[in-house]
Amino acid sequence: MSSQTPASPRMTANRVQSKKGKEKIVCLTAYDYFSATFADAAGVDVILVGDSLGNVIQGHSSTLPVTLDQMVYHTEIVARAAKRALVVADMPFGSYQVSTSQAVDSAIQLMRAGAGAVKLEGPYYSEVQAILKAGIPVMAHIGMTPQSVHALGGFKVQGKTESDGERLLLELRALQESGAFAVVLELIPSELSERLTRETLMATIGIGAGVGCDGQIQVFHDLLGITPHHLKHAKRYGEIGQAMQDAIAAYVGEVKSASFPTKDNSF
Ligand code: KIV
Repeated sequence: MSSQTPASPRMTANRVQSKKGKEKIVCLTAYDYFSATFADAAGVDVILVGDSLGNVIQGHSSTLPVTLDQMVYHTEIVARAAKRALVVADMPFGSYQVSTSQAVDSAIQLMRAGAGAVKLEGPYYSEVQAILKAGIPVMAHIGMTPQSVHALGGFKVQGKTESDGERLLLELRALQESGAFAVVLELIPSELSERLTRETLMATIGIGAGVGCDGQIQVFHDLLGITPHHLKHAKRYGEIGQAMQDAIAAYVGEVKSASFPTKDNSF
């Protein structure tokens, strides 16, 4: 008989939703094996393979160029690392907007890659329903939806006026009705996010939406201080970008001065 304590149970969409009102839900993006391993070991509940990889992995200025094949590739890698966290795969731009059958096909590819749920942006109610009908849990995403950056006129806080707040409330209700288990609230005033959180049975996951949400999500590179810019909605818990730059500079210096490798690194 093993004396080890049993490992904490694998997170599922149901388990994430059942934390609502009881325990904060911790979410973080990851795109590769070691970042996902670190997130999983630290107790992150949901690892999102975000299409933000377009920005932080590929160096684009938006998420629009990210393809479904690329999301499948990164989802496979992250799923290999995640032992406890729920892996949610983002549906990239152009993979669900054409038709419900396109949305279901795309979601199936992401689930085959190892995801436990998918996320899509905006008021795609019949797509959420169709994906759910295929047995796939869906996380929704409202507020600042980066795939619509051109229509929204930039990365701006949403729901600042009463009528825009009402629009978000209607979207929230319809997404719940469609069966989404959770919803990302991005760049939404705190007071409105609190109201949205109270109004829904879905777990609300905030980014730039205040502390009143059921959980929080951050982009891996922002959290660790790898991205150079300081974003108001993000907190840098490390300065890993500078640490990497310093380490590489030290390596460059030691190779040039022939102080690396030493005998210890040689055979
Ligand atoms: O792609 C992403 O990383 C996201 C989060 C910022 C919510 O959608």
